[in-house]
Amino acid sequence: MDISQKSKNILFSREEIAKRVKEIGAQITKDYEERVEERRLVVVSILKGSIPFTADLIREIKLPLQLDVLVASSYGSGTVSSGNVQLEYFSFRTLEGADVILVDDITDSGNTLKAIKEKISEMGPHSVACCTLLNKPARRTADINIEYVGFDIPDQFVIGYGLDFDQYYRELPDITYVEIEGE
Ligand code: IMP
Ligand code: MG
Repeated sequence: MDISQKSKNILFSREEIAKRVKEIGAQITKDYEERVEERRLVVVSILKGSIPFTADLIREIKLPLQLDVLVASSYGSGTVSSGNVQLEYFSFRTLEGADVILVDDITDSGNTLKAIKEKISEMGPHSVACCTLLNKPARRTADINIEYVGFDIPDQFVIGYGLDFDQYYRELPDITYVEIEGE
């Protein structure tokens, strides 16, 4: 389906996104700067949606950090993710004793992030925090604390800045609402 034929409304422009990412980076810097000598800071980007966000965010965190990625897959049918999540791939060898920040593009039910957080927590890190650019609180079913939220948004489907529809539109620099037929 071609979203270019549908109505497109910018929800957050690239400038608004950049401003908010800078603020989150500053907050993370403040929250983690005191332990910088004691533990390593590992930012884990949950692929693929958080690639643009993570790339911008790490450059706004003014601390030494390591960057890793993970790929998770959720099994089950329907539009809401199941809690049945597998880590398909991760780039780190160990997270033992590290302060970990999980970075995601959008948190909807929260099932995926919750399951990933639980799996990462079993790997012996000192701490695990969650950072999501977009949050749809109205759709939350999982009980999960998200330490860093870019923007709360209503229950509408969005694309751009990493967010896809059917794996397309991740490259768009602004975040846009879309109306999807049949939804
Ligand atoms: P959750 O486990 O229900 O929180 O699912 C979160 C995942 O659903 C995100 O990482 C996205 O892949 C996808 N998702 C949820 N809402 C949207 C949206 O509005 N646009 C694009 N992807 C979305
Ligand atoms: Mg995703």
